[in-house]
Amino acid sequence: MRDNKTILAEKTAALLAEKGISMTTAEAASLFETPSDPKLGDLALPCFKLAKLLRSAPPKIASELAPAFAGTEGIAKAEAVNGYLNFFYDGASCVAAVDEILRDERFGSSEEGKGKTVCLDFSSPNIAKRFHLGHLGTTVIGNALRNLLNFRGYKTVAINHLGDWGTQFGKLIYAYQHWSSQEQVEKDGIDELVRLYVRFCNAEQEDPALTQEARDAFHKLETGDAECLRIWQYFKDISLREYQKTYDLLGITFDSYNGEAFFSDKMPAVVQEIRDKGLLELDDGASVVRLDEEGMPPCLILKRDGSTLYPSRDIAAAMWRKKTYDFERCIYVTSAGQSLHFAQWFRVVAKMGYDWANGLVHVPYGTMSVGGEKLASRTGNVVLLDDLLAEAIRKCEQVVEEKHPDLPNRDEVAKAVGVGAVVFNALSNSRIKDSDFNWEDALSFEGNSGPYVQYTYARTSSILRKYGDLPAESPAGYAPGAEETALAKKLSEFPDAVTRALDGYEPSVISRYLLAVCALFNQFYHNCRILGAEEEDARVFRVRLTAATHTVIGNGLDLLGIRRTEEI
Ligand code: ARG
Repeated sequence: MRDNKTILAEKTAALLAEKGISMTTAEAASLFETPSDPKLGDLALPCFKLAKLLRSAPPKIASELAPAFAGTEGIAKAEAVNGYLNFFYDGASCVAAVDEILRDERFGSSEEGKGKTVCLDFSSPNIAKRFHLGHLGTTVIGNALRNLLNFRGYKTVAINHLGDWGTQFGKLIYAYQHWSSQEQVEKDGIDELVRLYVRFCNAEQEDPALTQEARDAFHKLETGDAECLRIWQYFKDISLREYQKTYDLLGITFDSYNGEAFFSDKMPAVVQEIRDKGLLELDDGASVVRLDEEGMPPCLILKRDGSTLYPSRDIAAAMWRKKTYDFERCIYVTSAGQSLHFAQWFRVVAKMGYDWANGLVHVPYGTMSVGGEKLASRTGNVVLLDDLLAEAIRKCEQVVEEKHPDLPNRDEVAKAVGVGAVVFNALSNSRIKDSDFNWEDALSFEGNSGPYVQYTYARTSSILRKYGDLPAESPAGYAPGAEETALAKKLSEFPDAVTRALDGYEPSVISRYLLAVCALFNQFYHNCRILGAEEEDARVFRVRLTAATHTVIGNGLDLLGIRRTEEI
């Protein structure tokens, strides 16, 4: 079944085409708005958006278009008011929408991606460094995109492309061998590794001979020296042990941890191929691929000393992934600061003659800061993700304690809500926008937040628990009121929201959609008696509507990677 918005968008596009204006259904759909007052209809077309195109006044456009919508599937009436064309959905189509949702627990999913594989490269921290706030975006956006793709039938490969190679490991190995011990690293974990690295960098300033020592150590590592490899592996284990705690809290898993080191022995062949294809040029001693035609600076392939770089490792990794997984797309989620890097090496792959370069997608996001209350962080002013999550859980424990002193699994609930609050917040703005994390907004049970969505979900659960077995059918001929209609129709738009989220690689489409569903559910909850409805038909339909809301919010939370909470 198509939702009413799609039907109206198609019709609008067709009507505009008659007037010589061409527009896709998606473009037409983006013109519509949901009126803030349900009395004004379930969906509205603000005609001032068309005034320029049609060279006519909005009220005139609205009243001219209105009759053309008579008899449209699912629409009871179209009314022109003050330059708006307001649409009222018909009751029968709302009841049908609820019935359809309840037929399928995975409502919104599809098999459209069947047989296609998508690789997702996300999170990908640099080992021996702490997991800080900068990694939150890539981690949760990547995971949400993965869930969305799975929901649509794609096979996904979640890849944690660890930053585990490079000259910095020569420095760390030297510092560890001279100034530290396994005992110390066991005790302080990554903090000790960070300290060693900082100490080395400072010492290097005083004593340039150390630079050569570090180079030698890295060279030994590259050429397979057993002791250097053992130490490097140890740094990796220590780091992953700590990252794993964060991934466990977030409920995120990966299919592969093949990071930069994994590709180090695959580089020479790739560099040779680039050279054989006549793309490599010398530039001040370094080897580069020129991208003048593309209006980009050259892509660095080899340093002066012949060692490989971030772009060359990415090219080798992409080639290996294509060979191994035969991906339809390979998606990279990183901060917007790396946009040029990806644009450059994507072009190099295209210049190498690989048409699958078209399937390489960079998904950038803006920076996130933490305002208001300062977080205590042991390593200066960077905000660590574990600290942020721990603080969120602690604050939620207090709230849950106050709200529900008798809830049996309070700790679990506080964990789900605290972590959910941070994740939802990170996914609630257009990803490219810079955002500021603010405790009050993130944790508010009333505002546009994760806890608000989880709380609304728990409210639907509680109603359903109280009612018992769900009636199998909606009452025949039931005529829903305004709040019921608005909610049912919004729920029927969930598949459309999933499609838009995937098309734009934009999980915030889902978080915003969920907030709209919650607002409509809460209006319905406050204005209509559900369990206490006097008429049997109303009670049955409203419980079914509540169950449909439960399905949709539940699926939406799953997609965002936020735990469902049956009770708060
Ligand atoms: N390790 C990098 C960082 O922390 C991100 C890696 C992204 N993935 C990639 N294939 N380049 O900035």
